[in-house]
Amino acid sequence: MIVCLRPPKGLCEGFARVMEDEVLIAERKRFPDGEVYVRIPGRVFNEDVIVLHTGYPDQNSSLIELYLTVDLLYDLGAERVHVVMTYTPYSRQDRRFREGEAISIKTILKLINADTYFTVDIHKKYSLTYFEGEAYDFPSLPVISRKANVRPDMVLAPDRGALERAKIVAKEFGVPSDYLEKHRDRITGEVTIKPKNLKVEGKRVLIVDDIISTGSTLALAAKTLYQQGAKEVEVAVAHALMIGDAREKLRGAGIKRVITANTLAREYEEEVIDISEELARFVEERIA
Ligand code: R5P
Repeated sequence: MIVCLRPPKGLCEGFARVMEDEVLIAERKRFPDGEVYVRIPGRVFNEDVIVLHTGYPDQNSSLIELYLTVDLLYDLGAERVHVVMTYTPYSRQDRRFREGEAISIKTILKLINADTYFTVDIHKKYSLTYFEGEAYDFPSLPVISRKANVRPDMVLAPDRGALERAKIVAKEFGVPSDYLEKHRDRITGEVTIKPKNLKVEGKRVLIVDDIISTGSTLALAAKTLYQQGAKEVEVAVAHALMIGDAREKLRGAGIKRVITANTLAREYEEEVIDISEELARFVEERIA
């Protein structure tokens, strides 16, 4: 049984095609004071239930909806509950960067009391150890880069933390990978990139990352690469939040294409590549 809570566009349809399973659309509403309400309009007794959901936009309400739904499904007699949350909010606060800070992702994941948790390109994979059941991260970047027909000469990560993602995508195209030396000021949020000779002259560079939020990281990365002689810079990210003037920043930095996956419940202006069938197969293989 598939329960569509608040999934990105196309996700329910893709899962239904792959799994040929019954689909229930959860009822959701908001009370006048802002509190959320969910209802499952069907029988889930003795069923293995897959909940399709995302954590953006409205991160806080989306989490409460998920907590209510998982608990409700067990109340209604579901055998096992598998959560597929295509974007996991709060995942960038995965450490105590400054004394006294909450490790937000720890609390968020500990409170999801499902049997299994699936997400897409979580900021740091090790965060999934905070989930008490089995948890899996689906790497969307090779899928979207291949489906979008990009032809990079080189794949770069905007920081060392994203190098693994760059390596996986570079392998897909048989090209080299590397990373930029990024620093973010933990108080002002300002991003700086240290000069590093990457031999990008005359090359088509694909930068890959988990997320575009304000666009500052990728705009700065692209500017740095053009200064070093890159011919063309394109980007592929799993989650294109595009906060504020992110689009203008990216265009202003000369980025030719922004490719992303359908992981958020928002309208897109970017090139959105549907990952629902690949993700459904990934889930199916792990819960069989
Ligand atoms: C940071 O480590 C992340 O992987 C992203 O690079 C970052 O969060 C993107 O944020 P922004 O678009 O605001 O620079």
